[in-house]
Amino acid sequence: MMKSLYFEKYGSSDVLSIRELPKPELKAGRVLVKVHAVSLNPLDWRLMQADPFVIRLIFGLCKPKHHCLGADFSGVVESVADDVSGFEVGDEVFGIMTPEITGTLSEYISIPASGLVPKPDSITHQKASTLGVAALTAYEGIHDYLTPIAGDRVLINGASGGIGTFAVQMARALGAQVTAVCSGRNEQLVRSIGAGAVVDYQSVDLLSIEERFDLIYDMIGNHPPKHMKQLLKEGGRLVLASGGEGMGFFKAMQIAKKDDSIDLIVDLKKDKTRLEAVLELSNTGRIEPVIDREYPFEEVADALDYVATKRARGKVVVNLVSKD
Ligand SMILES: NC(=O)c1ccc[n+]([C@@H]2O[C@H](COP(=O)([O-])OP(=O)(O)OC[C@H]3O[C@@H](n4cnc5c(N)ncnc54)[C@H](OP(=O)(O)O)[C@@H]3O)[C@@H](O)[C@H]2O)c1
Repeated sequence: MMKSLYFEKYGSSDVLSIRELPKPELKAGRVLVKVHAVSLNPLDWRLMQADPFVIRLIFGLCKPKHHCLGADFSGVVESVADDVSGFEVGDEVFGIMTPEITGTLSEYISIPASGLVPKPDSITHQKASTLGVAALTAYEGIHDYLTPIAGDRVLINGASGGIGTFAVQMARALGAQVTAVCSGRNEQLVRSIGAGAVVDYQSVDLLSIEERFDLIYDMIGNHPPKHMKQLLKEGGRLVLASGGEGMGFFKAMQIAKKDDSIDLIVDLKKDKTRLEAVLELSNTGRIEPVIDREYPFEEVADALDYVATKRARGKVVVNLVSKD
């Protein structure tokens, strides 16, 4: 048996409990992993709350099809299916839960070997667990769509969050001049990870600034894309990670489809080679995960409530195995 986060109906964190459930079966092609750390993403609390409604179309209309949350993880191989090679019991690994994209907040998970990446000793389980959804979203925005070159001026809206803290560092590592948008309390943080300038959106109207940018990565979506585009130089590009509360994802998709200078990250690419690419950036010191808070598994509801405040600085990690 094992302990697993469990929820039967959508709602606030009151719907969550930790239950004793049977360990997952080890099927062909899979590896059983003892989970040590899980980093949370907005996806987790959105799935819990079924917010926005479209979540229900994918994860269950009236009640959730999957009863556990958590997409990212880092842990240790517990057992390996006979047809799997390349992994041994005791190997440290990290990744993203596939294909379900949810269910890592469990003592054990069964995961296709094709999605697992070996974790080097040089990085803790807590840090490795952050190299999942947020890091890959930053990677897709910066390395696939925006591709800044040295000297480019890049504006990052939402720079102090899970994606933003990686995006700032990735853009800086490519030689870009980064302007970070965040609240004043996070100015020091974003400067410490490479932002050369900061716009405190609580005291300055972002749309009123005079500087123009080659590239913009917008995680927040609190200004319509046509207004954000006014901050671009001629020929500049805008990438959206989110439709934002006002516009919503479908509207953002329509806008991005019609405008060649705008891209929206719709179906995040989560394959192993991307996880390896992000790990390489970490191994070579070009990115360093920013961890805001860590919670023990018993306090996972508090951790999800904190991420749902949208005020987290970098990543929030839940430890399923207590640290030495
Ligand atoms: N397209 C995809 O595949 C994909 C994948 C992952 C996530 N997402 C979406 O991307 C968004 C960001 O994800 P995340 O993991 O970075 O979230 P997060 O970690 O929860 O973001 C929290 C950060 O947002 C900042 N923030 C809040 N309001 C802001 C505003 N008005 N202007 C600037 N910054 C503001 C906060 O900074 P302050 O406290 O300083 O305000 C905080 O540091 C979410 O909506 C998420 O659902 C999309």
